[in-house]
Amino acid sequence: MSYEGEVVVITGGASGFGLGLADECAQRGMRVVVLDRDGARAEREAGALGAAHGIATFSMAVDVAVDDQVRQAAQEVAERFERVDVLVSNVGVQLFGEVERFTDAEWQWMLDVNVVGAARTVRAFLPYLRRADRPRLAFTTSSSVLSPASRLGAYQATKFAVWGLAETLRLELAGEVAVSVIFPSGMTSRHLESSTEAQPEHVRRVIGQPEDFEQMMASNPDMTTALLTPEEAAQRAVEAILAGEPYVVTHGDLVGAVSTRADALRRAAEAARTG
Ligand SMILES: NC(=O)c1ccc[n+]([C@@H]2O[C@H](COP(=O)([O-])OP(=O)(O)OC[C@H]3O[C@@H](n4cnc5c(N)ncnc54)[C@H](O)[C@@H]3O)[C@@H](O)[C@H]2O)c1
Repeated sequence: MSYEGEVVVITGGASGFGLGLADECAQRGMRVVVLDRDGARAEREAGALGAAHGIATFSMAVDVAVDDQVRQAAQEVAERFERVDVLVSNVGVQLFGEVERFTDAEWQWMLDVNVVGAARTVRAFLPYLRRADRPRLAFTTSSSVLSPASRLGAYQATKFAVWGLAETLRLELAGEVAVSVIFPSGMTSRHLESSTEAQPEHVRRVIGQPEDFEQMMASNPDMTTALLTPEEAAQRAVEAILAGEPYVVTHGDLVGAVSTRADALRRAAEAARTG
């Protein structure tokens, strides 16, 4: 299938998995829009993609926590390209810790960026997605919602919420926009660094202590130790996203966790049926 000339918009597209997806789309002749709170990095990376692949690109400094910036970006993209074929809501920030120690301000930051940020992005771009012949909308969640670990409580709660948002949109936009949920596992990205950079002053603290990482790994023996580069993960995900597949898994380590949960849920549902 040819995607040449289609317009893809990626939030958090200046680094890691988002940038890997941007590159995969550029290789397919798509026009690429990189939105990121790090505007200088977004401009540099979008320019490099344009030069390497001979495609039109656009970048903008956008914090998905700021509604005006998201709406402004949607308008500017529409003025430039008229429509959006693929929107990837990819931003996610991380903060480790025991659930009982998270403050309200930390919860509010994580929820505002990861969950409301995704909803804001969809709200702003949906009118332009609807102009495309075959619109697709994708959300980056995390393998940790399929195979959770301790010390990731706030992050996992936000990623479950994004999954719920995506499932609802799939129903509300049925027949109009294809909706994908992406579940990446561990990647060698700048995630901890960029989450630190994104922290507002009032919630500033170390993103994770060594003990958090130890507890996280110890709590989930199935957690992957075979990290992929973000480029490898993007390469594995891109065709399923462009095809509008409902679920996109990047790493091969989740079959056991998915099956165990599905079996347990089936047993619970059957127990309710049989009384
Ligand atoms: N790295 C992993 O192991 C891993 C695993 C599973 C899921 N994920 C998810 O993948 C997605 C991409 O993360 P990554 O690992 O590529 O990290 P990354 O740090 O390489 O890229 C994230 C980008 O998002 C940008 N960003 C952060 N806050 C923003 C905001 N408020 N508004 C706009 N842009 C913002 C950052 O500047 C950065 O460029 C995230 O949703 C993350 O939760 C990552």
